[in-house]
Amino acid sequence: MKKKSICIHYQYFESYHELDTQNIELIDAARSAMQRAYSPYSEFSVGAALRMDDQTIIEGNNQENAAYPSGLCAERVALFYAGAQFPGKKVTTVAVIASSLKDADFSEIVSPCGACRQVMLETQNRQHHHLKIILVSLKGNGIIFDSVEDIMPFSFNLTSLLSHNS
Ligand code: THU
Repeated sequence: MKKKSICIHYQYFESYHELDTQNIELIDAARSAMQRAYSPYSEFSVGAALRMDDQTIIEGNNQENAAYPSGLCAERVALFYAGAQFPGKKVTTVAVIASSLKDADFSEIVSPCGACRQVMLETQNRQHHHLKIILVSLKGNGIIFDSVEDIMPFSFNLTSLLSHNS
């Protein structure tokens, strides 16, 4: 048996105003989507914005429900809408931001849940193009991953499914 390790590369920025204008615009869109979230149960509002390959922006936010599991995360609201409405377009970048009513100073860099990572991975695989992920705090600092694989090592994907079925 051997001990092995993996190394993940990402970029850190102190203020998202250091980024190019397209990404600043995308983060601003995610922030405005966050403000329209429907999150009365968790009081945790998340906004996601997708940059498509034709430069249009799609916004999503978390949508909660009295029957808790019926709700959906911001990232999946945006990604499923993009898949439903524009199946031929590629998603080049996703920006995510969150705020909490319970903690007015909430300034953490939000980290997508496992289910959203899985859906991001499916989006990346089906479009054969890397999906860049920008995670930003309310303070404006954040991190950038160049590919979903960076936040989803050892993932389950179509290849795993096919090899188990044959
Ligand atoms: N949430 C998201 O929208 N995205 C994530 O990646 C993690 C969690 C939402 C789901 C729920 O409405 C609230 O945040 C608290 O979990």
